[in-house]
Parts: sequence; C-alpha cells; structure tokens
Amino acid sequence: METFFLVAAVLVCVYAVIYTVCVKGKSCQSNVKLYGRTVIVTGSNTGIGKTTAIDLAKRGARVILACRSKQRGEAALAEIKKESGSDQVVFMQLDLGSLKSVRSFVETFLKTEPRLDLLINNAGIVMEGKTEDGLGMMFGVNHIGPFLLTILLLDRLKECGPSRVVNVASTAHNAGHIDFNCLSTHKDLGVGSSFLDVMKIYSNSKLCNVLFTHELAKRLKGTKVTCYSLHPGAINTELTRNAKMFAILMKPFSLLLFKTPVQGSQTTLHCALQEGLEPLSGRYFSNCTVRDVYAKAKDDAVARKVWEVSETLCGLS
Ligand SMILES: NC(=O)c1ccc[n+]([C@@H]2O[C@H](COP(=O)([O-])OP(=O)(O)OC[C@H]3O[C@@H](n4cnc5c(N)ncnc54)[C@H](OP(=O)(O)O)[C@@H]3O)[C@@H](O)[C@H]2O)c1
Ligand SMILES: *[C@@H]1O[C@H](CO)[C@@H](O)[C@H](O)[C@H]1NC(C)=O
Repeated sequence: METFFLVAAVLVCVYAVIYTVCVKGKSCQSNVKLYGRTVIVTGSNTGIGKTTAIDLAKRGARVILACRSKQRGEAALAEIKKESGSDQVVFMQLDLGSLKSVRSFVETFLKTEPRLDLLINNAGIVMEGKTEDGLGMMFGVNHIGPFLLTILLLDRLKECGPSRVVNVASTAHNAGHIDFNCLSTHKDLGVGSSFLDVMKIYSNSKLCNVLFTHELAKRLKGTKVTCYSLHPGAINTELTRNAKMFAILMKPFSLLLFKTPVQGSQTTLHCALQEGLEPLSGRYFSNCTVRDVYAKAKDDAVARKVWEVSETLCGLS
C-alpha cells in the first residue's frame, strides 16, 4: 500500500515537472492597458479566441467578437462580459467562409466603430468541404476570409496607428506546401478527404497565414501598422470537433499534455501587446518568442504569388 502511494506521488511530481517545462509555456508579460482602443477578435466564441477576448476586455479595450454563429456568439458575449467585468464587448456576425459576409461585416464595422487598433485573425477550422464561394473550406476560412478582412480594414488600421494585425497560424505550417496548380484548378490547396489529406490541407492553409504575414509586413513598411504570425501551442479546444476519431484518440493526451485555452492565448497576447515588437513585423512567434521559419515560409516570390492569387479569388484585382 505504501509503495503504491509512493509511486503515485512520484508520478504526479514527474507529471508536474513535465507539464511546467514542456506544456505550460511563457505568459505574456505586458501590463499594457487598452482604454479607448478597439480590437477585433475573430472566432472568439470559444477556444483561445474567447480567452484572448476576455484578457483584452479586462485591459479596458472595446472588444468586437466577430463570430459566425449568432447564437454561439451571443452566448459568449454574455460570458465574456461577466468574466471580464467589462460592458465594452460587442458581437458582430462574421462568417469567414463567405466573402459576402466578410464584406458586410466590414461595412457594419466601419459604419458603427470609429477606431481599430488591433485585428486578431484567430478563427480557424479543420474540416473538409467547400465554402459558399466554391473555395476549399480550410483555404477559404483559414486564409482567404482573413485575407479579405484584413485588406478591407487596413485603411482604418493605418488611421489609428500604431496598430497591429495578429495572425494565428500553427506549427503545422512546417508541413505545408503551396500547390499553385491545384489552386487554379480546384480553388483549394489540395484534394482528398482522408484524415491525412485533411491534415495536409490544414497545414497548407496555415503556411498561407505565415506567408501572408511576411508579405503584409513588406507592404506595410512606412506605415504605423505591423503584423505578426504565431503558433499558439497544442491546446485543448474544440478545433478537432469535426475530426471525431482523431479527437477521441487524442483526448487522453490533450487533457494531460495540451495547454489550457488561457495558456494557449499567451503568444497571441504577446504579439498584440508587447511593447517594442515593431522591428519584428512580419515574423513568426511561439511560446512568446520570435522564431526562425524555414525558407518556404518566408519565400518572397511565393508570398507575393499567394497574395496575388488571393486578391484575384477575392475579386480585388
Ligand atoms: N488548438 C490547437 O492546438 C491549435 C494549434 C495550432 C493552431 N491553432 C489555431 O488557433 C486558432 C483558434 O483555434 P482553437 O483551437 O481555439 O479552435 P476552436 O475552439 O475550434 O475555435 C475556433 C473558432 O473559429 C471559429 N470559426 C470557425 N469557422 C469559422 C468561420 N467560417 N467564420 C468565422 N469563425 C469561424 C469557430 O466558430 P464556431 O464555434 O462557430 O465553429 C470558433 O470560434 C485557429 O486558427 C487554429 O488553427 C490551434
Ligand atoms: C517556453 O519558454 C520558457 C522560457 O524560455 C521555457 O522554460 C519553456 O520550457 C518553454 N516552453 C515551451 C512549451 O516551449
């Protein structure tokens, strides 16, 4: 019996050490307050978008919850107001899988809100299929929607500078690849619906996030707008809700070895708030630290081409 408790105690200690060193990660160190500032967080009704929104609301920001579901968005609105103690939180409907919805969100936003200081492109999805515009689902929701949203909000961000765009990417971008032929034939970053195909296409969409940030920073030189991409960590959220088997198999690991949503929002908050990051515009972060990326994630020619294809697909050129 005593041995049992001894072994259990040792295991708990080992787990605590592993958790602290390998899982938890650094926290955003900035104490910046955001009274009078306005931020948009996409996909903020759950997961790390929600914890990001709560943190920003606690700092005094006016927080726009840009979510696709009115029901889920309004439920989150009540929770976020309660948890942050702020009444400066607003829900505005935005479906990133619809270019029409992106345009109408921006129209409403620009009409009703005078400022924009921070745009946090957080929403993301792991799901096969097509958007209403006929784009691959993950390509459309994870890249094209946020691309158009950002472009349409740039003038307002420039007026309110210093301001920032934060793009939540993923370490999965390391496995990504941009197949321009597939883009032109299928308006997607890959075909196939097996688990492996879905993971590949997701990784490709996250590579788009990193390349978009790289190109955006170049185009923003000389303005007071900077931009950053990041990996938030492996976090226990709803992200894999559409990949059922995967979610079930991962559950035991994710409960023990993944970050909580509060821990998972720290690198986003770091990129949004940390003073003095401006010289690092365009770079990629994880664990609240700037990281080097592989050549393919900062390839000038590919980044420019992704930008141009994206403009065409959005009807901007
Ligand atoms: N969790 C991880 O381990 C992990 C790792 C690396 C990167 N990330 C990235 O972190 C970001 C946040 O993910 P999460 O883990 O917090 O996932 P989550 O819990 O599934 O939250 C994703 C959010 O995105 C929203 N969303 C999905 N499709 C949308 C659309 N068409 N229009 C507008 N919003 C949409 C979701 O809204 P609904 O609730 O209505 O679906 C939800 O609010 C994603 O970009 C993801 O790729 C996560
Ligand atoms: C994050 O960085 C801290 C400090 O540099 C380090 O101690 C920790 O192990 C890192 N955590 C992860 C999850 O990378």
